[in-house]
Amino acid sequence: MSKYIPEVLQGLTLPVISAPMFTVSYPELVKAQCKSGIVGSFPALNARQPEILDDWLYQIKEDLAEFSSSNPGKTVGPIAVNQISHSSNVRLEQDVKTCIKHRVPIIISSLRAPVKEIVDEVHSYGGVILHDVINLRHAMKALEAGVDGLILVAAGAGGHAGTLSPFALVGEVRKCFNGPVVLSGSIANGSSILAAQAMGADFGYMGTRFIASKEANASEEYKSSILNAGASDIVYSNYFSGVHGNYLKESVKNVGLDPDNLPVADKSIMSFKDGRSKAKAWKDIWGAGQGAAVIDDVPNVSEIVDRLKVEYEEALSKICLKSK
Ligand SMILES: Cc1cc2nc3c(=O)[nH]c(=O)nc-3n(C[C@H](O)[C@H](O)[C@H](O)COP(=O)(O)O)c2cc1C
Repeated sequence: MSKYIPEVLQGLTLPVISAPMFTVSYPELVKAQCKSGIVGSFPALNARQPEILDDWLYQIKEDLAEFSSSNPGKTVGPIAVNQISHSSNVRLEQDVKTCIKHRVPIIISSLRAPVKEIVDEVHSYGGVILHDVINLRHAMKALEAGVDGLILVAAGAGGHAGTLSPFALVGEVRKCFNGPVVLSGSIANGSSILAAQAMGADFGYMGTRFIASKEANASEEYKSSILNAGASDIVYSNYFSGVHGNYLKESVKNVGLDPDNLPVADKSIMSFKDGRSKAKAWKDIWGAGQGAAVIDDVPNVSEIVDRLKVEYEEALSKICLKSK
């Protein structure tokens, strides 16, 4: 585990950062995650236009401030906004400016390592920048750019994901980085959060578990497909976006494709230029990780977090008992 955890990530109800999810993480979900004492996050591109991102940040901050003042003593988690560092994301500069204006405490950058100017701008108001990577090479590039921490996206994660075993990836990164490490990939219950820490990570990064929540912006069909899925009902393909990711096979079948025989796409089709048409594709093809296998219900976020806490504590005490 890291010797240094930035202040904004200390004192959470649970060592959990909610993962930002395109088309799914809207303000209702983010607010519920923060009110449960974990980090709540969303991709900037979920806001249809840059002005909407500005509105969302006002709205979320105001709501959380009201909640804090009427619930003194309750832990409220910080907000994280995800920025896609890709040349096709024409909004990047403006969206980063909006986050700086709102002094968003945590920025999650993904796909390409952020440029040094962005890292410096985030640091200038005391913000923390975490970058998500699928291998050591990308991790080293991001660290060179000056990011504060790494999100390791291991095999089985929902949406764009890597293929490496979490054991290997965490071990390899820990050999050269002792700062904050967040692990993702099929973490959907409390014992898996503890396992991530036992492996050497500081936090679990959880996406799919929160799709199956009342507050998530996902259709009932999407949510129930997660409940019905086992680990092998997830397909890993680059056909839909040009980058490999995990999707529910059921949604692929629903559009008349064979999930076990998908064509291979060209990486160059990846584009974040036209967020809306991409959103349409993600509405039909449902991103989800293999952690769907252990998800059986669609409760409120607060119930999910309460349960995660109990599971985490139970797993910890079982291991402590065994090691005596
Ligand atoms: C539907 C969906 C949409 C996603 N969209 C994004 C995104 O816009 N930006 C991003 O950095 N990661 C995105 N991800 C990846 C998640 O942030 C995270 O890495 C992943 O959900 C963690 O694995 P888990 O789902 O197994 O918990 C998405 C994942 C899903 C399932």
